[in-house]
Amino acid sequence: MNPLPPRFSGLPFEIRSDKPSRFSPSELDEFEKMVRKGGEVSATMLAAGLRRAEWLFEAAREGRVIGIAALKRPFQNYRSKICRHSGTEVPVAAYPYEVGYIFVAENERGKGHSQRLIQAVIENSAQSGLFATVRTENGPMRHVLEKFGFRTAGIPYRSERGDYELVLYLRSSPASLRAESPLSSRP
Ligand SMILES: CC(C)(COP(=O)(O)OP(=O)(O)OC[C@H]1O[C@@H](n2cnc3c(N)ncnc32)[C@H](O)[C@@H]1OP(=O)(O)O)[C@@H](O)C(=O)NCCC(=O)NCCS
Repeated sequence: MNPLPPRFSGLPFEIRSDKPSRFSPSELDEFEKMVRKGGEVSATMLAAGLRRAEWLFEAAREGRVIGIAALKRPFQNYRSKICRHSGTEVPVAAYPYEVGYIFVAENERGKGHSQRLIQAVIENSAQSGLFATVRTENGPMRHVLEKFGFRTAGIPYRSERGDYELVLYLRSSPASLRAESPLSSRP
């Protein structure tokens, strides 16, 4: 089932999905500026994190970038920190990628853009398990992740970057969900 709201399907809207190496330096700078506007990511890790991402996604309308997202390959020390804080294992084998760097321009919010971006991320994830961390009070982002099959895991934990809490979301690979299904063991 396509979870995208049908009311958005008529908008002229394009998503570019590309490897970071295929973005020009100025495009990467623009991408970085948008991530910084979201205020969710440590600036020191940002440039390196962007360039080692598996895929970057840009939503554009009439040539103007209005939203971004990334399929990231997180550093092990960052992954370990999330596991420690949330009290949950996030094994690389089961959840190799993180969905992150999601940002939609303020005047474009509420039009389904983040959902189209998340859908593109999932389509480019080679059916892998995914994880994401979100501020507990970020209602729209949590709603969108849950709509696309992400589920909370572990306990919410205080961010090291400010006075707010984060919650971990996991999305198992479709193959592992099929294997766990009670129907899968039936003849
Ligand atoms: C979070 C963000 C990416 C959402 O983008 P968006 O394009 O406005 O989101 P969409 O329009 O695709 O979808 C929003 C959904 O949240 C729902 N929603 C809105 N406010 C909500 C709230 N307070 N609580 C729960 N759901 C809410 C909407 O109804 C809509 O769902 P629906 O289509 O099922 O009705 C955008 O607000 C943003 O860029 N925020 C700043 C950066 C950020 O927080 N990034 C996430 C870091 S993890």
